[in-house]
Amino acid sequence: MIVALTNSKGGVGKSTLAVHLAVWWKECGANVALVDADVQGSSSVWLKETGSEVPVFRLQTADEVLDQIAEISRSFEHVVVDGPAGLSEVTRAILLVADLALLPCGPSVLDLRAANEAIRVVKQAQTIRHGLPQAMLVPNKLQARYRLSRELLEIARHLAVPATPELRLRQAYADAAGQGTVVWHLGPGGEMAANEIKELFHGLFRKESENHE
Ligand SMILES: Nc1ncnc2c1ncn2[C@@H]1O[C@H](COP(=O)(O)OP(=O)(O)OP(=O)(O)O)[C@@H](O)[C@H]1O
Ligand SMILES: [Mg+2]
Repeated sequence: MIVALTNSKGGVGKSTLAVHLAVWWKECGANVALVDADVQGSSSVWLKETGSEVPVFRLQTADEVLDQIAEISRSFEHVVVDGPAGLSEVTRAILLVADLALLPCGPSVLDLRAANEAIRVVKQAQTIRHGLPQAMLVPNKLQARYRLSRELLEIARHLAVPATPELRLRQAYADAAGQGTVVWHLGPGGEMAANEIKELFHGLFRKESENHE
């Protein structure tokens, strides 16, 4: 399965989710690789720091994505693709090869606008590919007390793609990146984030993870 993290906005959690998903699958016993399709290269550096031994491929152009992902996915059960910010050729190429696109989205008006743009481009790919990739919004960095967080969840219900359970704004995600690890290896400080993100992955990929349990 090829799972892509894309959105038109930067800083919404694409790399955070990509690294956590790749490590989670690896620890479930899956044969997984990460494709870092962002020239910034942050997820490939972070993933190597985790010591999880997930193979990493860096593909930096739309041609590289279209030429190489099919070949990579033949050698792995799952490929997690970390996309760049923006609706570039690279993002569009990723949407032409992914089975599932996860669109992380923060709780601001700008985030919502960007998510709407991204959904438009996802729909273009779905029209070409007879419904693929499947797409889901991942509400991220939510704060229970803030009105916008509630609004985001309300609007997400009306968008053209379904939403996953939300992830809260938690220092543990930033700490994990700073320490080159994932939230469930942070110790007690990462516990709430760990429960929340593992539950998200389990809900999305229960079938795949059970193959290894
Ligand atoms: N749920 C969260 N709570 C707190 N901080 C978060 C959360 N998710 C991500 N972050 C932080 O937000 C910042 C941006 O996250 P990340 O790099 O994953 O986003 P991105 O979409 O990959 O950005 P870019 O478009 O620049 O590649 C990082 O500092 C990360 O630690
Ligand atoms: Mg990133």
